[in-house]
Amino acid sequence: MSEPAGSSAPAVIAALGAAVPPRRMTNADWGQYVHTSDEWIRSRTGIEERRVAGDDESTATLATRAAERCLAAARFPSDRLRWVLVSTDTPEMWNPATACFVQAAIGAVNAVALDITGGCSGFVAALGLAESRARLGDPVLLIGCEVLSKAMDWSDRSTAVLFGDGAGAALVLPAGDAQGLSVTSLIARTDGRDADILGKPYGGTKNPLTPELVASGHHHQIVMHGQYVFRNAVVHMTEAAYAALARAGLTLGDIDWIVPHQANQRILDAVAERLKVEATRVYSNVARFANTGSASIGIALVEAIQRGLLERGQHLLTVAFGSGFSWAASVLTCTAVPPVEADWGTG
Ligand SMILES: CC(C)(COP(=O)(O)OP(=O)(O)OC[C@H]1O[C@@H](n2cnc3c(N)ncnc32)[C@H](O)[C@@H]1OP(=O)(O)O)[C@@H](O)C(=O)NCCC(=O)NCCS
Repeated sequence: MSEPAGSSAPAVIAALGAAVPPRRMTNADWGQYVHTSDEWIRSRTGIEERRVAGDDESTATLATRAAERCLAAARFPSDRLRWVLVSTDTPEMWNPATACFVQAAIGAVNAVALDITGGCSGFVAALGLAESRARLGDPVLLIGCEVLSKAMDWSDRSTAVLFGDGAGAALVLPAGDAQGLSVTSLIARTDGRDADILGKPYGGTKNPLTPELVASGHHHQIVMHGQYVFRNAVVHMTEAAYAALARAGLTLGDIDWIVPHQANQRILDAVAERLKVEATRVYSNVARFANTGSASIGIALVEAIQRGLLERGQHLLTVAFGSGFSWAASVLTCTAVPPVEADWGTG
């Protein structure tokens, strides 16, 4: 098959979708599982509640719901997709890729289905891949989805209370085919020397599951050096923001909204302070959804658009940091407010 001629115009996010589980879990609810308090969680993270997947929900079902919403918003037939990319650190299973289940569920019969494991910055980094394919003419559906509630140690209060489940999807199309959020610039970086600082080390080939490990209950343990992660998140998110702006030929004064990965309100506040940007220009929903990993920016974009915050001509800055360490940022220019649909699990 011949490759369509590439375009020098940046590809666009033509529509977005989001989905979260209906089950709400407050900080007080966490008290049933670990010794913690609403005050501790709220003051350290800004989180008040999160969504948690039910027995009948999984990464593929949540990703599918977000994908369906995105395609419905765009009125885009799934058989026109050439790529279904799922960015996740909590896959449906070891193999095959979560994206295969999503592809089947939405009927994207002409698409290649692949997963990307890129930590909490995976969605922005994968947007770079999606954009480069769309520039060549391929319609791409990119979904960031995490169901960490089924893959974490519920007895570890230092990590478990930080996370929530959710999915955000973006339809990325060639510039000539659509308007929306144009990917004006994007940078992504990794420093694997810090790979052991934040992650989930058990269950892979280095530390396989053994009956003893499972019996210990720690096979889902998340390793996290919280304060080191915090410091690096602030430094690298700031650095990534400036790098993406420089590549776009813009300054912070040109940016209407920063839509960051929703790791923790204190991290968002510290990044805003370093960038000397008013906190009111930094979109945050971490209080209601907690850290949903690679889903968080898609969910935040959908919510911001539903609230009428985006206008044609605005520039947005997305910026994220996560395990790896890895970090990424993009400048998105709104050539038209993209259609969005969400399943907030409330109806
Ligand atoms: C995790 C984080 C909130 C912890 O805050 P902190 O101020 O660094 O707290 P510490 O880790 O120093 O722990 C302080 C105390 O609180 C305790 N604690 C930890 N979790 C707790 C909880 N959920 N409830 C109550 N106490 C808790 C610790 O055991 C420790 O007790 P000790 O002093 O008796 O040992 C903070 O380090 C952070 O936000 N890091 C970044 C995490 C992140 O965003 N990761 C994802 C990146 S994508």
